[in-house]
Amino acid sequence: MRIDNQIYDRIGDGWWDEDNPLNLLQGSFTPGRFAYFRDVLERTGRDPSGRRVVDIGSGGGFLAEEFARLGCRVIGLDPSEVSVRTAVGHANASGLDARYVVAAGERLPLADESVDIAYCCDVLEHVSDLDHVLAETARVLKPGGLYLFDTINRTFASKVLVIKVMQEWRLTRAVDVAWHAWEMFIRPAELADGLRRHGLRLGEITGLGVRAGKLGVLRDFMRVRRGGISIGEFGRALDAGRVKSTRVSYMGYATKPW
Ligand SMILES: C[S@@+](CC[C@H](N)C(=O)[O-])C[C@H]1O[C@@H](n2cnc3c(N)ncnc32)[C@H](O)[C@@H]1O
Repeated sequence: MRIDNQIYDRIGDGWWDEDNPLNLLQGSFTPGRFAYFRDVLERTGRDPSGRRVVDIGSGGGFLAEEFARLGCRVIGLDPSEVSVRTAVGHANASGLDARYVVAAGERLPLADESVDIAYCCDVLEHVSDLDHVLAETARVLKPGGLYLFDTINRTFASKVLVIKVMQEWRLTRAVDVAWHAWEMFIRPAELADGLRRHGLRLGEITGLGVRAGKLGVLRDFMRVRRGGISIGEFGRALDAGRVKSTRVSYMGYATKPW
């Protein structure tokens, strides 16, 4: 199955609309992973204020805006022109200092060793050349720099949940396109290998998932289908964040040695 990354141009003007499928990420994963990233910053003794940060695959700017609010100098990069336009518009309307440029992770328009923090969230499983993206990330990070990530594991569980339930089964799917391709999901050991090959030292990998009870999720899902609640409300009720299991999604960090 070929991944359909054109969806970010087709509906990328609606990242911030509560009824747009892309908005699911904002309510659900954005708060959970950002809380984890803040914890990593604290545990590794990094003050984010004034740091130069690159968001690789910034979409509508959900996480870029969070880092900008921390006082970081953020640049968001994304190959989807429509998404970049949306992110620029939203940051301007919110009075936030975040810049965005149309670019792919395989070719970052940044100088060597020029950023303090780089991150890829829900992006690595979308790129056409993972090795190149990791090489580019390592190149632009300063020595001592931090790399934050989350992505989807290639397991039976992710095939059922992310492929079958979320995008293939007619009764349950959130979108009618190949949002993800299971073959592009990345096992933690594969990512660890890639990071090592490009000189990044893995700090930690932990699970990222839904913490709300299954019955509540099912009830809310039916309410979304009936138009009773928005996709944004559904996402918030999922209470996504750090979990033990890495079977579906996982997040973590790596550092570039001095
Ligand atoms: C699921 S969205 C995640 C967006 C954002 N990181 C977030 O978490 O809100 C995936 C994003 O990856 C972008 N993308 C696809 N291929 C890419 C590539 N080769 N390099 C960088 N970003 C890419 C898409 O345009 C899309 O905005």
